[in-house]
Amino acid sequence: MKNVLILGGQGNASVIGHAMLDAAQRGSQEYQFCGYVNDRDHCEEIEGHPVKGGLQDIPRLLEEGYYFLNTIYKIDGQRERIALFDSLTIPDDRLATFVHPTAYIAAHVELGPGCVVMPHAIISTNVKLGKCTRVMIGAIISHNCTIGAHTFVAAGSCSGSNLQVGEGVHISMNATVREFLTIGNYATLAMGSVLLKDVGELEVWAGNPAKMLRHAQ
Ligand SMILES: CC(C)(COP(=O)(O)OP(=O)(O)OC[C@H]1O[C@@H](n2cnc3c(N)ncnc32)[C@H](O)[C@@H]1OP(=O)(O)O)[C@@H](O)C(=O)NCCC(=O)NCCS
Repeated sequence: MKNVLILGGQGNASVIGHAMLDAAQRGSQEYQFCGYVNDRDHCEEIEGHPVKGGLQDIPRLLEEGYYFLNTIYKIDGQRERIALFDSLTIPDDRLATFVHPTAYIAAHVELGPGCVVMPHAIISTNVKLGKCTRVMIGAIISHNCTIGAHTFVAAGSCSGSNLQVGEGVHISMNATVREFLTIGNYATLAMGSVLLKDVGELEVWAGNPAKMLRHAQ
């Protein structure tokens, strides 16, 4: 099994870590969740799992043979967080690409390195997920969508077919996206929103029907 450390802490990192443990308990042989990389919380363990170091320790942890997943993102600050991750220069072949065994992934789906597909998520045919994109619990992505790198597809969201979604986009919990739309880089769709129109770069949209709320930083 490949030993995996998750960049982050309580929240997205811990829920993904626990899904990895659950996958192993169900017989999945690919990855073993071993703890966190975290220099924010100044602690030695999170929920009983060790913090193996901070971002400055990545070269050592690479030498020790670990694989990595990234969850360090922020709606206001996506570009900076993605640049921070890129500056770590973790090779693509040392990013874990994790699919929980209860997820449904159709034929002709491409998952970039470092992608996560959580329990009960559904990804239809001809979908491409860019590097480090996370599809959270119970999210649905319909067919023929292209989703950019570092995008977050939150739990319970429902994305229609033929979408062009940029890099570092945040589709929030229980949001719904009409088919054939384009969502620009670093944009956000708020919780429970129903998106009927294209969204530009860095725009934050909310409501039903969704309207532009503000620009993200
Ligand atoms: C989009 C989002 C970032 C906006 O947060 P924000 O910029 O802090 O906005 P505020 O909470 O200050 O709200 C600003 C206005 O937008 C409205 N608004 C915020 N979220 C909304 C939503 N989901 N739907 C409709 N209106 C919303 C507020 O009512 C408020 O309106 P008002 O000015 O008339 O009072 C936030 O609502 C969101 O969806 N976060 C993501 C949650 C998520 O998916 N988490 C994943 C968990 S793992």
